[in-house]
Amino acid sequence: MAVLIRPAKSSDAASLPNIERCAAELFRTVPALAWIADDDVLSPDVHLRFIAAGTAWVAVDDTGNVRGFLSAERFGQALHVWELAVHRDCQGRGHGSALVLEAIAHARRQRLSAVTLTTFRDLPWNGPFYRRLGFDAVEGDALDERLTAVLEHERKLGLPVHLRCAMRLALDGPRWGNDAAPPASP
Ligand SMILES: CC(C)(COP(=O)(O)OP(=O)(O)OC[C@H]1O[C@@H](n2cnc3c(N)ncnc32)[C@H](O)[C@@H]1OP(=O)(O)O)[C@@H](O)C(=O)NCCC(=O)NCCS
Repeated sequence: MAVLIRPAKSSDAASLPNIERCAAELFRTVPALAWIADDDVLSPDVHLRFIAAGTAWVAVDDTGNVRGFLSAERFGQALHVWELAVHRDCQGRGHGSALVLEAIAHARRQRLSAVTLTTFRDLPWNGPFYRRLGFDAVEGDALDERLTAVLEHERKLGLPVHLRCAMRLALDGPRWGNDAAPPASP
């Protein structure tokens, strides 16, 4: 089935929490992380904020239904991906990769210096998936204040941070300013 990636619209916001819930069903295949399938998801209001900023995209199937989304936020010269989700029924068909590539293309158009995110280091659909798209793990001294704060916030939310990592895709554009300002989480 063909997929179209387009900027998310305000009218999409109400449908995105359910997509995130359906996507997270995948975590039930990992007993230690199955609880994530029942965890909180981003609210429509948070999605509306990203949509208004022009940093959210959806994957739409050929019947016009939204099947996945990527929500990001700009911090200085970095675009940070807060959430990527594809409905469980549609996973493994390239929708997730297409959403990430669209976010990267947007960051390049904006002449940003990097795309960043945090994820599970070793789950096949997390760390290895992003590595194939060009991201590298950011570790130790290379972790800036902003990404450290994101990981710390995740620890407080109960995520097993020893299994998490920050990742960064460096872009070619000029580097003005910095992307190290601490985030307000969504
Ligand atoms: C991550 C996610 C958005 C990827 O979306 P997708 O449309 O399935 O992605 P793609 O089809 O482009 O690529 C999927 C790749 O991930 C891996 N993958 C996906 N599902 C997998 C599974 N159940 N087991 C093993 N590998 C899997 C495969 O390597 C696959 O690549 P391949 O098709 O070339 O083998 C989707 O798996 C998802 O919604 N997961 C739950 C939420 C999540 O983990 N979000 C990321 C948070 S950082």
